[in-house]
Amino acid sequence: MPKRQLVLIGASAGWMLPSRWLQQFEEVHAWDIDPLAAPLFRWRHARALSRQGTKLHFHTGDGLAQLADTLQRMPEAFYWFDNVLGQLRFIAPAPNPHVPHDPLKATTRRLQALQKTLSGVAWGSVHDRMSGAKLPDTPCPPPHHTHAGLAMETPEAQAWLQQIGALSPWLDHLTEPVFPPGTPVQFTAWPFKPDYAHWLEMGWIPARSSGRASL
Ligand SMILES: C[S@@+](CC[C@H](N)C(=O)[O-])C[C@H]1O[C@@H](n2cnc3c(N)ncnc32)[C@H](O)[C@@H]1O
Repeated sequence: MPKRQLVLIGASAGWMLPSRWLQQFEEVHAWDIDPLAAPLFRWRHARALSRQGTKLHFHTGDGLAQLADTLQRMPEAFYWFDNVLGQLRFIAPAPNPHVPHDPLKATTRRLQALQKTLSGVAWGSVHDRMSGAKLPDTPCPPPHHTHAGLAMETPEAQAWLQQIGALSPWLDHLTEPVFPPGTPVQFTAWPFKPDYAHWLEMGWIPARSSGRASL
């Protein structure tokens, strides 16, 4: 994993990230569309980063819309999507007048296209795969290590949902095609609120030796 530059998309206040992990990098370039994210992120992490000599650049704006530009400027960085890709289905993309409008298909296509956009750079993501109600008093299972591309109707995915105590119907966050099939991933059950859980998937991919991102 590159250690010089981190590009962090969907940073929010960095609630999920320990300062110690961020301190590994010489520069952190964080993005969030929410104007409150930058002051909260600085409040949580700026002192620790400055102590370590890590430079923090916080960008308030759409980090996904700016991704191609960022990749060109920082092809050696590590790109981390921090619990943001599972939210894309809630943000309707602008309709294309030449294509019948289907926001869910458009989100799936957008998520699939990321692999190509990011090919050549080191990147990773933690994102929601599914979420929903669960049986009361079912303890969350320990993390499950597997490979990306697991469809929810497969016996392995169904067994995982059963372990969480998922009560149908669950919401599909459309992130099944984020990672290239076969990428090692970890599933984690996150007790989001009483009797309600999220299935998180996380993984990362080293930069290919060919080096540059294809845009
Ligand atoms: C679930 S929160 C992420 C939590 C965060 N990683 C943490 O550790 O606290 C998702 C964040 O992504 C941000 N977001 C959504 N779309 C974005 C985009 N296109 N570019 C940058 N940030 C975005 C939201 O404003 C929100 O703060």
